[in-house]
Amino acid sequence: MGEELNRRKFLTYVGTGVTALTVASTGLGAFTPTVEAKGAKAASHLFGRKKKVSGLNFTPIKPTDKDDLVLPRGFKYDVVAAYGDVINKQGDTFGYNNDFTMFFPMKGSNERGLLWVNHEYTSDLWVTGPKSKDGTYTKAQIEKLLYNQGGSIIELYRDEEGVWKMDTTSQFARRITGLTPFKLTGPARGAKAVGGTDVVQGTFANCSGGKTLWNTVLSAEENYESTSEAASLNETHYGWIVEVDPFNTSFAPRKHTALGRFHHENSAMGLTNDGRVAVYMGDDKTDACVYKFISKNKYIKSRKQANSALLEEGTLYAANMSKGEWVALTLDAVRKKAAGKQELLEKFQTQADVLVHAHEAAILLGATPTDRPEDVEISPFDKSVFIAHTNNSKHGNIHGHITRFLEANDDLGSLTFDFEIFACGGRQSGFSAPDNLTFDSGGNLWTVTDISSSSVNKGVFSSFKNNGVFVIPTSGKNEGDAFQFASAPVEAELTGPCFTDDETTLFLAVQHPGENTEDINNPTSMWPHRKGDNQPRPSVVAITGFKY
Ligand code: FEO
Ligand code: CA
Ligand code: CA
Repeated sequence: MGEELNRRKFLTYVGTGVTALTVASTGLGAFTPTVEAKGAKAASHLFGRKKKVSGLNFTPIKPTDKDDLVLPRGFKYDVVAAYGDVINKQGDTFGYNNDFTMFFPMKGSNERGLLWVNHEYTSDLWVTGPKSKDGTYTKAQIEKLLYNQGGSIIELYRDEEGVWKMDTTSQFARRITGLTPFKLTGPARGAKAVGGTDVVQGTFANCSGGKTLWNTVLSAEENYESTSEAASLNETHYGWIVEVDPFNTSFAPRKHTALGRFHHENSAMGLTNDGRVAVYMGDDKTDACVYKFISKNKYIKSRKQANSALLEEGTLYAANMSKGEWVALTLDAVRKKAAGKQELLEKFQTQADVLVHAHEAAILLGATPTDRPEDVEISPFDKSVFIAHTNNSKHGNIHGHITRFLEANDDLGSLTFDFEIFACGGRQSGFSAPDNLTFDSGGNLWTVTDISSSSVNKGVFSSFKNNGVFVIPTSGKNEGDAFQFASAPVEAELTGPCFTDDETTLFLAVQHPGENTEDINNPTSMWPHRKGDNQPRPSVVAITGFKY
């Protein structure tokens, strides 16, 4: 990195008041000299999070097209749950195409806890069977379609040999599916815009998500159209952020309409400087916007799960990146823009209409259409906000990039921001199509890639081989450089990376291995290569071997 670039970066940080330039070592000790953590004390004071490790040690792997989850030397994975596995005494089974995972420790343990897992979509070949000639599913097929999406709550533990396993005797293990009733909260609850209802059927298309400050899970409904259409369900009941308490069945599963309806990728929650809740969200579509919700009221820790009400009232904003402004999606503003356009004035009559058609409202108000904003994560070190823009071939952005928002005054409640491009996909960086993100306590951004099954290993994607996991330091000498940690099985996407609190285990969901299979007798992948099995299975793994 040149002196000029270093200087520019330094000025950027000083200019926005961010203290993180020297906060954290980059980790990756095997090949990265440790940077003195001059600001670490201030950072852990500010964000309540101490750096737990002095540096991650691994030798990066090379791209590979092997039909396995390939890890650096010294690491191993245990398959903890695969499609169809029984998860509890009632005989419920693990859904298809696992995505986001979130670990909820039991009694603070790093070796026993509940894992929430999203199930994003199914497969005609492996789950429902094909549609009839008229393009419809039978009733039994629709049940399979709905049952195998949503979420799984499974209980996991690490045995004496250090192997992670599922505890199927768990009293907590259960399924949340496309058949589970959900209550609506917020402005669109009972509104005409959602057919006047306050209870809806099920959740599906669950892509990524997040954890709340009060220990519940938020799961994001993304590409809901095909399922709602196939099952003849009202599509305005889908495309929301849903909330579930993995430990507590009396906490009614709910959809928070105040956070808007679009193709939700995930949610990242933090606190504004005055104690309100801010939730950042991506909308995974080409030419879609980045959103932020800010609650009206303040977070009060002692209220525990009752803080869920914070997600019922507040303001939804979308990012105008040309002006560096968060634009409030209010009915007044939308109607002002719609003046003279009868069709729009009819569409947007209430705040519920604005939330149900959030993307259209955002564009109308000047929010910036971007290149598939997927995962969004808030840096625990400096509160900058990282957004994976997966790609957008319409703009020639074939390999995607990661954007970093710097909120004014480092306040998640600010309505102005600056931004920079943190890292770019392509041959030069070694990764393409960044998707889910998570941080480790060394300040490294763990990034999974999602080159589509139709493109992977072909043409300009050849050099990347299979999808992977990359580790990208967010400060220090290697800031923005990507080091490959894992390679996915054939035609799989790696999703939902989640560390245990002590960072000795990384959970990862391996989605759609063998997705291009046309003949079930000749699958393109057989991962996870279970003895006696005759098909590939989306599965969640626990990766261990981290040494500090
Ligand atoms: Fe479901 Fe945006 O990936
Ligand atoms: Ca995703
Ligand atoms: Ca994706």
